[in-house]
Amino acid sequence: MSMSKFTVQSPRFKVGKRMIYCVLLTAFSLSVVGCRYDMQDQPRYKAHKKSDFFSDGKAMRDLPEGTVARGKLREDKDFYTGKKQNVGGTAAATAAAPATTVADGSGNTLVASFPDAIEEFPVPITEELVNRGEERYRIFCMMCHGPVGNGDGMIVRRGFPKPPTYNDDRLRNAPVGHFFDVITNGWGKMNSYASQVPVADRWAIVAYIRTLQISQNPNGNMTMPSSRETNTTNTNASELPKPVGLPNSPTQGGTR
Ligand code: HEC
Repeated sequence: MSMSKFTVQSPRFKVGKRMIYCVLLTAFSLSVVGCRYDMQDQPRYKAHKKSDFFSDGKAMRDLPEGTVARGKLREDKDFYTGKKQNVGGTAAATAAAPATTVADGSGNTLVASFPDAIEEFPVPITEELVNRGEERYRIFCMMCHGPVGNGDGMIVRRGFPKPPTYNDDRLRNAPVGHFFDVITNGWGKMNSYASQVPVADRWAIVAYIRTLQISQNPNGNMTMPSSRETNTTNTNASELPKPVGLPNSPTQGGTR
């Protein structure tokens, strides 16, 4: 009797042992996986997170004053702002002759004096510059300002507020820095084009606007003085690329 009992129990006992091995192995495998500690789990802070470590509670440190990102120095004030550098840090020019603003019949903001705008181009005037300016002008400005700058662009003809013409004495006498400023910061009803038109292209467009003004006033004595290098300083109207009259009307569907 007892023998038979023993033989019956034996296989049960073996199964139990195997179960224990299985459980142990699973536990071991799990514990090994749990210990994984890889580079993706670094003990580091994410940007803008809180931290108890620094007294100001921020994980990120403030940049030392005057820090400039690489390539963002923009030391050349004339080129990047179109404004005169204020000598000794005082806005002497601006204070001496504050600009007065009046609105014309169509509600445009007309200003006749631009005391802090630079008068000379901060880039050399070349044919490439003017050609580039023509291309950019046709993309970004012509639909409002019209092919020669008379403020009769296609969307103005369809009802958009009419900009003032470039071809009157006020804007002929306006310094180049003013045009750069208008593109960069917008002007009255006109938006800023800084995000679409990079700085160098803004100067190219201003150069093209000047050639348009000269083309519409061929007997005037306008010049395009540049403060930068070259024998092209004080480029005369006669030295500019010739075809600045009425450009061909752009074809629909855009073959140009
Ligand atoms: C969507 C139409 C539109 C586009 C595009 C546009 N402008 Fe204008 N612009 C205007 C209007 C409207 C005014 C008049 C704004 C006012 O005086 O309130 C104006 C005014 C100006 C003035 C005259 C500032 C003054 O002293 O009176 C200049 C210069 C000028 N724009 C240059 C540009 C240039 C350069 C571009 C292309 C980069 C451009 N604009 C693109 C609508 C436009």
